[in-house]
Amino acid sequence: MKVLITSALPYVNNVPHMGNIIGCVLSADVFARFKRSQGEEVLYVCGTDEHGTTTEAKAIEEGVTPQEICDKYYKIHKDVYDWFGISFDIFGRTSTENHTEIVHDIFKTLDKNGYIQAKEVEQTYCSKEEKYLADRFIEGTCPHCGYEHARGDQCESCGKLLDPHELKNPKCKFCGTTPILKKTEHLFLDLEKLQPELEQWVKEASAKGRWTQNALSTTEAWLKKGLEPRAITRDLKWGVPVPGKKDKVFYVWFDAPIGYISITGQHTDWKSWWKDPDVKLYQFMAKDNIPFHTILFPASLIGTKEEWTMLHHINSTEYLQHEDGKFSKSRGTGLFGDDAMKTGIPADAFRYYLLINRPEKSDATFTWKDLQDKLNGELLANLGNLVNRTLVFISKYYDNKIPDKKSELDITEDVKKVTELLEWANEKEALKAIMTISQKGNQYFQENQPWKTRTEDPEKCEIAISSLANLVKDLAILIEPFLPDTSKRIFEQLAVEPQTWESIGKPLGSHTIGKTEPLFEKLDDKKLAKIKEQLKSSKPVEVKPLQLRAGKITKVEKHPEADKLYIETVDFGDHKRTIVSGLVDHYSMDELEGKTCAWVTNLKPAKLRGIESQGMILAADDGKAVEVAVTNAKPGEYLLGDGSEEEITIDEFAVHKLEVKNGKALIDGEEIVAYTKKVLDGKLR
Ligand code: 2FM
Ligand code: ZN
Repeated sequence: MKVLITSALPYVNNVPHMGNIIGCVLSADVFARFKRSQGEEVLYVCGTDEHGTTTEAKAIEEGVTPQEICDKYYKIHKDVYDWFGISFDIFGRTSTENHTEIVHDIFKTLDKNGYIQAKEVEQTYCSKEEKYLADRFIEGTCPHCGYEHARGDQCESCGKLLDPHELKNPKCKFCGTTPILKKTEHLFLDLEKLQPELEQWVKEASAKGRWTQNALSTTEAWLKKGLEPRAITRDLKWGVPVPGKKDKVFYVWFDAPIGYISITGQHTDWKSWWKDPDVKLYQFMAKDNIPFHTILFPASLIGTKEEWTMLHHINSTEYLQHEDGKFSKSRGTGLFGDDAMKTGIPADAFRYYLLINRPEKSDATFTWKDLQDKLNGELLANLGNLVNRTLVFISKYYDNKIPDKKSELDITEDVKKVTELLEWANEKEALKAIMTISQKGNQYFQENQPWKTRTEDPEKCEIAISSLANLVKDLAILIEPFLPDTSKRIFEQLAVEPQTWESIGKPLGSHTIGKTEPLFEKLDDKKLAKIKEQLKSSKPVEVKPLQLRAGKITKVEKHPEADKLYIETVDFGDHKRTIVSGLVDHYSMDELEGKTCAWVTNLKPAKLRGIESQGMILAADDGKAVEVAVTNAKPGEYLLGDGSEEEITIDEFAVHKLEVKNGKALIDGEEIVAYTKKVLDGKLR
C-alpha cells in the first residue's frame, strides 16, 4: 500500500500563523513521518494556493502583479515550513502550466459528461470601479451575529458561510459604494445530478476511512440539505482561464484541490499516485475546508467517470485561537511563522506546544503562559530531564559505555497504543501517551536510585541504566514524527544512526555513547518578556499620515475605457497631475472644470482602467447624492500635512476616517478648509 498525504494548500498571500500551521502542514507532517518510520511508501504533497481574489487584492495593496505576489509569498511560506521541519516530498504551486492543463482536462471531461451548465446570473458589481465584486470584496453586517465588517463569503466573527445578498448594508470593500446587481454568465458544476453517486461514495469512504467527527457532520449536513449546481467560474483576470471564455477564470475552490494532483506532477508522474488503486489518500486541514474536500473535489472527480485515488481518511481540526483574539498580522495579534523564527525558541518547542494543544475535538487557545508552562514543565522537566540524566550518568560513571544488560522496562503495550492512535492521526493523544512513557522512565529512575545502587548494588544499577538507555533510544524513535530535531539530537548523543519503528524494543547492547548536552533550555519570565517585547516592536502598528492639498481642475475628459470615470488635469500651483475620478453620474465636465477642490496627494499612484491616477478627490456621499469638497485655499496649499508625508497604499489610506459634518470636512475628527453645500453629512471618499 502507498500512502498519499496532503495538507490544505495555504493561500499564498499571507504569512502562515500558528493556527494555519497546526491546522494543516504540521498535522500532516506528523502523520507522514510516522508512516515513513513504519516503512510505508509515502508521498506528502502541499504547495501554495495561488489563485483567487485575495491574491489579486494583495497585489493591488502592494502595487505589484499577482504573479509577483505569488513569487514573494511562496518563498515566505517555504522558509517558514522549512524552519518548522515540515517534511514535504514536494511543496509546489498552483500558478503553473501543468496545473492549468490538468484543471482544463478535468473540466472538459466534466463538460463532456454533461455535468457543466451555463447559466445567466445576477452578480454584484461596483459601478464605480466598474468590476464584478468577488463575494469577499463586499462588506456589510452579518445577518447571524451582527458583525459590521462581515465579508460576503464568510463572517470572520461567527464563521458562518454567507452569500453576499444576505449582508445588510453591503458596500464595496475598495471604495465603499453600494454594489448593484448586473447580469453575467457563469458555468456551474451540476452537484445536484452528482449527489446520488457522491452520497454512495461518502457512505463507503467514511466508514472505511474513519473520518473525523466534524467532517462527518458537516458532510452529512450538506447532503441532507440537498446539493445544488455550484458556480465554478468567476469574472476575474487572475486564475486558471476558462477555455473559450474571455475574462473568466475558474473559481479558486474548483482549481485548488486539483492542485494536489498537479503539484504531485511537479515532482513525479502524478498518475502513479492519483490513478493507482493501491494508494490510500489522507487529507489534513482545518474545519472550514471540509466541504471542499468531501463534496466539491470528490464530485469533480466522480463526474469525470474515471478511476481516481479518492479521499480515504480526512483529518480536520477545529480552530486554534490566539489569546488576544483573531490572528491578524496587520492588527499585530497572534504569532506568525516568520515571527516565531525570530524568537530564539526552537521549532520543536513550538511543534510540541501546538501538537499537545492540537484542536482535535474543540477549539484551543494559544497563550504564551501556557507555552512557557508546557515547555518548562513537560518538555524540559519530563523528556529533556530523562534523556539528560540517563546519558550524563552513563558518561560519568560508565565511561560513556551503556552497560550490556537486558532491559526490564517493557513498553510493548504503550507502543501499541501510540501506534493505534497514530494510525488515525490522533496526534495529541499519541503525543500524550509518549510523554507518559517518558514520565514512567523518570519514575523508574527515581525508584531505582542509581546514584545509590552504583556503589551499593552495581548489578541492579547496570540493569537500570541499560533499561533507561534503551528507553531513551525508543523514545527517540517514537518522538521523531512530533519533534524531529530533538529525535535527531538524541540519536546523536547516543551515537546511534536514527532508527525507525521496527527497532523499538531492540537492545542497543554494549555501546559507547557520544557527547551529552541538555535538549532544551528553560524559558524563564525574563526571556519570555523580552520575546514579547521584540514581537510587539516588529508589528506594523504605525498609522501613516495623510496629505491633502488644494488643486484646481483645469481640464476634464471622458475616460476612453470606462463609462463612469473622468480624467481630470489638476493644477497644484507648482505642478500638474492626472487624476481619475468616478464622477460621471454626478457632474458634467463643465461643472467640474475650474473648481478648486481638496485632494489626497500622497496616495501611491494606481492605474484605473489603464490610466494612472496620481491622487484622489474628496467627495461627500450620504447614500443619495455625491458632492465634491471645494476649498477657497489657493491651488497647492496644504490642507493637511506639510509635504513631508510618505506615499501610502489604499489600505493605509483606509484606516483614516474622512467625513463631512454640517458641510465641513473632517479628517480623523479634525476640520480642514474644505466644504460642501448640498451633501452636508456623510462619508468623504
Ligand atoms: O483555506 C485555505 O487556505 C485554502 N487555500 C485551502 C485550499 S485546500 C485545497 F483544496 F487546495
Ligand atoms: Zn467599488
